[in-house]
Amino acid sequence: MPEFHTPPIMPMAIRFDHEQLTLAPAGPTLTRRMSDLEGLFRDEAARAAAAAGENPVVYTVTSSPVPEANRELPQSITTIMPGTTSGEFWMTKGHQHPDHQGEIYLAITGRGGILMFDGEQTSWLEMLPGTIGYIPPGWAHRSVNTGTEPYAFLAVYPGGAGHDYDWVVEHGMGKRAFRGPDGSALLRPFAE
Ligand SMILES: [Fe+2]
Repeated sequence: MPEFHTPPIMPMAIRFDHEQLTLAPAGPTLTRRMSDLEGLFRDEAARAAAAAGENPVVYTVTSSPVPEANRELPQSITTIMPGTTSGEFWMTKGHQHPDHQGEIYLAITGRGGILMFDGEQTSWLEMLPGTIGYIPPGWAHRSVNTGTEPYAFLAVYPGGAGHDYDWVVEHGMGKRAFRGPDGSALLRPFAE
């Protein structure tokens, strides 16, 4: 066995259910509620009130069984619920890869966007079912549900890239995505 084959994993087919947005076989599922998103929305008081109340699920991430290990290519399905907090669309925490490596997202259902920030400039990609979004190395990324239905996408990423959530807390994302007057995304400066 080659030395890179650690941990050992066999070729596998993973069935994706378009209706249930599930994987089989599946690895762990991460559930992020409003209480997990402290300090991320512009209106922290509104976020805290929601967390203290019904504490809704904002998004889930279901992983495939492929491990997050060097040279592997794990996948996951992220489903973000529709909603806003004081007008700011519900979103993922966002992260930077400590080991700067690229990532691919494929939008599956609903309507959303990818907010990216490299520390200086912000990029925004509209994501509709069938859209492939490319995240280059070194760009922090956050996904946003800009629609009225759950927004789900497939992510494929290098297993050794890692996830740095604190980078986003420290540097922000340059912009924030709010619901505009016509319902579509309106990007506003991060600290406005
Ligand atoms: Fe990522």
